[in-house]
Amino acid sequence: MTTRPQNLLDPGFELTLRPMRYPDFYERYRDAIKNTWTVEEVDLHSDVADLAKLTPEEQHLIGRLVAFFATGDSIVANNLVLTLYKHINSPEARLYLSRQLFEEAVHVQFYLTLLDTYLPDPDDRAAAFAAVENIPSIREKAEFCFKWINEVEKIDRLDTKTDRRRFLLNLICFAACIEGLFFYGAFAYVYWFRSRGLLHGLATGTNWVFRDETMHMSFAFDVVDTVRKEEPDLFDDQLQQQVTDMLHEAVEA
Ligand SMILES: [Fe+2]
Ligand SMILES: [Fe+2]
Repeated sequence: MTTRPQNLLDPGFELTLRPMRYPDFYERYRDAIKNTWTVEEVDLHSDVADLAKLTPEEQHLIGRLVAFFATGDSIVANNLVLTLYKHINSPEARLYLSRQLFEEAVHVQFYLTLLDTYLPDPDDRAAAFAAVENIPSIREKAEFCFKWINEVEKIDRLDTKTDRRRFLLNLICFAACIEGLFFYGAFAYVYWFRSRGLLHGLATGTNWVFRDETMHMSFAFDVVDTVRKEEPDLFDDQLQQQVTDMLHEAVEA
């Protein structure tokens, strides 16, 4: 008989679902299933007519939004698989993360479909996907993400407190700064267009992405709260300062 891990961040691939250790994570998985939607349900036809009505400045804004969304969810999905799934050692939490990965795939598909609809020219499409390299404001956000991915990518086991804190910073970064600040900031522009009766297709898809992202953040913060209960000494003054600095850096980006 193998011993079960004591804490959520203890290294390993725990398989036991009964008795269930973290039933709240399982409930989050079941709740997420209820939110299933498909890209085919979003009608983008009226958006094309709306785009022609926009001023050059508004068209520039839409171009930046589409370019930002072109790669954002893929970055989140990569971090989910390469870092979060590896270190959150609970089969019920991994069920939730599997579901989240599917949702990120739907988001990637939604923004790809949006980009193809909004940008009929193949060169414009290619430029949007290259925005992480060519558009400074988007490159800065992407570099911020990669920095926090690289911090933990090479860690295979969270054996030390230092490594567990580095993992927590990655988790908090993705939930609070990327799915939170970066995405919600972009959603605000979409809702500004909607308030003027424009781009209803984009707003519909955004509503569903928004609902998913809200759940992704809630799950991540549940993980943080669970780790805080199990290993309160991880949350020292230094970690608090690092989170504050990270949030400032995200706001700057
Ligand atoms: Fe997403
Ligand atoms: Fe997400």
